[in-house]
Amino acid sequence: MATTGGSSVRVGPVPFKDVEHDGDMVTAVPERPSEEYVALVSALPCCTIAGMSNTKLCCYQGFWLPEGLAPAAAALQRRFEPRPSDVIVASLPKGGTTWLVALAFATLARRAHPPGSGDHPLRRLNPHQCLPFLEGMFISGLEGMLDALPSPRLMNTHMPLAMIPGAVPADGAGGGCRVVYICREPKDMVVSLWHYFRRVYPDLEFSEVFDIACDGTMLWGPFWDHILGYWRASVARPENVLFLRYEELLRDPAENVRRLARFVGMPFSAAEEEDGVVRGIVELCSLDSLRGMEANKAGYVDTRTKFPREALFRKGVTDDWKSHMTPEMACRMDDIVADKLRGTGLAFP
Ligand code: A3P
Repeated sequence: MATTGGSSVRVGPVPFKDVEHDGDMVTAVPERPSEEYVALVSALPCCTIAGMSNTKLCCYQGFWLPEGLAPAAAALQRRFEPRPSDVIVASLPKGGTTWLVALAFATLARRAHPPGSGDHPLRRLNPHQCLPFLEGMFISGLEGMLDALPSPRLMNTHMPLAMIPGAVPADGAGGGCRVVYICREPKDMVVSLWHYFRRVYPDLEFSEVFDIACDGTMLWGPFWDHILGYWRASVARPENVLFLRYEELLRDPAENVRRLARFVGMPFSAAEEEDGVVRGIVELCSLDSLRGMEANKAGYVDTRTKFPREALFRKGVTDDWKSHMTPEMACRMDDIVADKLRGTGLAFP
C-alpha cells in the first residue's frame, strides 16, 4: 500500500483491485439504477448491432452508448464530483486505452512502485484492474468506493467529455481535474475494434463494423464527436486536458511519458532521468512486456462480456487498415473525417 513520508496516510493511486474489496473502501451499498434513470433510458432512441447478437445501443445526448451504460452517463453528469488532484484517462475503445492506463498508472504510482520492482502491480494485474472504470462504478452503484479512494485518484472512462462536466469547467471557471485523452487514427481503430469483437462474435463481418463507424452508431460514437469534445477542450483548457495520439506514442513513448508526467504535476527529476525511470516505465508497459504477463494471458476483461484479456494485446502498429479496407472504404472514411474535422485544427495525416 502506498504511503507518504513513512506515515500511514494512504496516497494514490492505489491498484484498484487491491482495495476493491477492502472493508474500509465500501461506503455505499450497491444499488440498482433508480427508476428515474430506467425511465430516462426507455425514452431514448435505440438501435442494435445485428452481428453482435443484437447488442443494443441508446442515443444519450447525441452519443450511442451501450444500453446498460446510458443510466451511468446520467448519473455521472449529476453526481460525479472530481477532486482537483484527479486524473482521468479517457479514450474510445481500441484507441490505445490499455497502454495509456498502464503508462499513467506506472507514472503516477512510481514512487510507491518503481517500474523495475519485481512486485510491481502491473506484473500481477491486468492494467484495467489497476484503475476504476468510471461508468462501471456509477452503473453498479459503487460510486461510494470512488469517494473512499486516496488522492490522487486515477480513473478511466470511455464516456464523451460532455458526460463528465465537472472534469473540465466551462470557460472562465476554475476547478476541474486533469484528463488525459488518447486518440487513434480512425481507420486503424475500426480495424482493431473488429478484431476484438470477433473474439466473442466470430461471424461479425468487417463491413458491419465499418458501416456503424461511418454512420456514427458505433459504441460511444460518433467517434468524431467523441474525439472533438476532448480535442476542443485540450485547446481551450490545456491545463485540464492533455490530448495524446497513439501514433505519437508509438513513435516516441518516452517523450510522451514525460509530457504525461509534467501534465499531472509529477515531472521526472534529473535523478529519475539518470536512473532510467522513464525507460523503465516504457519497457514495463510495452506491448511485449504486458502481453507476456500471466495476468494478461488468461481471464476476461470483464466476466459478463467474456472478452479475453489477451485480446487487448494484438499487433500495436499503424496502418493495419491497409490490409482490411478497400480503397473505396478508406476514401469514404477519410472523407467523413475530413468533413467533420474541418476548421477544428485537428487532422489525421
Ligand atoms: P491493435 O488491435 O491494432 O493491435 P484498447 O486498449 O483501447 O482496447 O486498444 C487496443 C489496441 O491497442 C490494440 O491495437 C492493441 O494491440 C494495442 N495495444 C495494447 N497495448 C499496447 C501497448 N502496450 N503498446 C502499443 N499498443 C498496444
